[in-house]
Amino acid sequence: MKAVMCHSYGPPENLVLEDIPDLEPGEYEAVVEVHAASLNFPDGLQIQGKYQFQPPMPFTPGSEVGGVIKSVGAKFSALNVGDRVMAIPGIGGLAEQVIVKSESVRRIPNNMDFKTAAGFAMVYTTSYHALKQRAKLQPGETLLVLGASGGVGLSAVELGKVMGAKVIAAASTEDKLDFVRQFKPDATINYGDGELKEKVKELTDGRGADVIYDPVGGDLFDQSCRCINWNGRLLVIGFTSGRIPEYKANLALLKGSSMVGVFLGRFRKEEPKAYEQNLDELLAMYANGQLNPVVTQTFPKEQFVKAFNIFTKRQAKGKVTLEFKAE
Ligand SMILES: NC(=O)c1ccc[n+]([C@@H]2O[C@H](COP(=O)([O-])OP(=O)(O)OC[C@H]3O[C@@H](n4cnc5c(N)ncnc54)[C@H](OP(=O)(O)O)[C@@H]3O)[C@@H](O)[C@H]2O)c1
Repeated sequence: MKAVMCHSYGPPENLVLEDIPDLEPGEYEAVVEVHAASLNFPDGLQIQGKYQFQPPMPFTPGSEVGGVIKSVGAKFSALNVGDRVMAIPGIGGLAEQVIVKSESVRRIPNNMDFKTAAGFAMVYTTSYHALKQRAKLQPGETLLVLGASGGVGLSAVELGKVMGAKVIAAASTEDKLDFVRQFKPDATINYGDGELKEKVKELTDGRGADVIYDPVGGDLFDQSCRCINWNGRLLVIGFTSGRIPEYKANLALLKGSSMVGVFLGRFRKEEPKAYEQNLDELLAMYANGQLNPVVTQTFPKEQFVKAFNIFTKRQAKGKVTLEFKAE
């Protein structure tokens, strides 16, 4: 079977698509025949050796897929051969086959195609956990989403609206904001000029946002600490800007605000039932038409370099997938 392989850290151009042996499931595992695999920002870091979790070399990047159960181990009872699924194996997704454990795979609704399935779980479960369990977002509160056109950012915009918040979507270009406007945020901010704080204050009568969703970090985090409302919650999602910022304790004191960490992987491990419940609720929202996951770009597997470079070149709008088997 074909797999995208990383043999040495470096840019996407160093990766190769090569033939490797077919996979066999262990006792408690299944093999998924991958139809579509989605890319996420951390995949681009991992191939460069810059992520907090690095698999041993050589490895196949790719943390989530949509496909069909191809074979199951003797003690894998969660699903059957032939079931259509979404899966977050964590690693190995950019390949025609991937191994999954029962807790990382879910049957998908009949009306969900494989590329949508490949891009669904990671972004929505991250943002829902962030907004529901971590920020305890309330209807009527103001939610500011940074990096709003990207994978996790866009899901936070959609979920913020579903949860009844007033959503301010913020991004670095007008083109990205035009894309986000399809999802009906209440207001938008272009922070491409580096000015976030004043624009947030203008839109909130000087009070600041109640909840700030920050996958970017760096200077935008610094400004966020200064445009957060009394009792505000600043959600630490990631650091796509490349700088891990420092939190100024005096600002927390003055604003009665909190910095709240969000870590999907640890949440899945520590609170599996709550995670599963969240995913159930998200799939129900999808079934009701409340969520509209958008895969903006799909590439054939041979064009993996193009797909990776969307993330390394700050061009993400919605989700990006690689196709391993035509629908
Ligand atoms: N905490 C968790 O459990 C968890 C789970 C999933 C993902 N994450 C993290 O969330 C972050 C976003 O992931 P994603 O897959 O949604 O990424 P993405 O689709 O590439 O979106 C990232 C956004 O960050 C902004 N950005 C600012 N500076 C950037 C730069 N130098 N390079 C690239 N983007 C930059 C971009 O928006 P603008 O150009 O508009 O600024 C972009 O839309 C990553 O750090 C990832 O590790 C965390």
